[in-house]
Amino acid sequence: MTIRFMDVFTEWAASYDEAVTGHDPQYKDVFLRYDEILDAVAERATTPVTEFGAGTGNLTGRLLARGIEVTAVEPSPEMREILIDKIKDVNVQDGHFLSFDAEGTNSFVSTYAFHHLTDTEKGEAIGLMADILPVGGKIVYADTMFLTEQERLDVIREAREKQFDALADDLEREFYPIIPVVQDLFEKQGFNISFERQNKFVWLVEAEKMEESA
Ligand SMILES: C[S@@+](CC[C@H](N)C(=O)[O-])C[C@H]1O[C@@H](n2cnc3c(N)ncnc32)[C@H](O)[C@@H]1O
Repeated sequence: MTIRFMDVFTEWAASYDEAVTGHDPQYKDVFLRYDEILDAVAERATTPVTEFGAGTGNLTGRLLARGIEVTAVEPSPEMREILIDKIKDVNVQDGHFLSFDAEGTNSFVSTYAFHHLTDTEKGEAIGLMADILPVGGKIVYADTMFLTEQERLDVIREAREKQFDALADDLEREFYPIIPVVQDLFEKQGFNISFERQNKFVWLVEAEKMEESA
């Protein structure tokens, strides 16, 4: 698989930590309650953890602070550089959702990253994680998703009306799913899944593996 959108993160890496604190008006609502959202993911994870799309390390740091052993998987060199600079002695892998080394992992986590995969690729990634997780192991993540296709279209229209064109383009370009599709992808692979709304865009997903993979 080609890793898409890496040019976005080459550009965004240096100012990413400012965007998550609400400095970018277009992304203010996307990152509303960012700290609480990352804490909610961290508190549901059980060690050892593999984190995808670790970016500048904001979730990684929270996991480590809880005494959790973490491998941070991040495909963007610019993001990895900031992460390593911020958190010394962190275990970092150049990889992505469909290419990683995570033997022995008990939980997979990510924040604001799973939407980089198409829905078909999301299913493949869930399969790869399911093959590694023990029964009772978890996938916990937070990301933008929508209850229905109509909600997705309405949010894009509202963004255009506010002239938030960067946000609207992002919502059209990347693969923000609808919840019934996500639910189906996880249930097909033997997970029990719950969804909890965090803000207008972001939902927290907690999926527990219920049976041995086929
Ligand atoms: C919006 S940032 C989120 C960073 C961090 N997790 C956070 O919550 O602030 C998305 C991150 O996902 C990474 N990413 C993009 N495509 C990916 C893929 N296919 N697999 C794993 N990570 C990916 C990007 O390089 C970027 O660091």
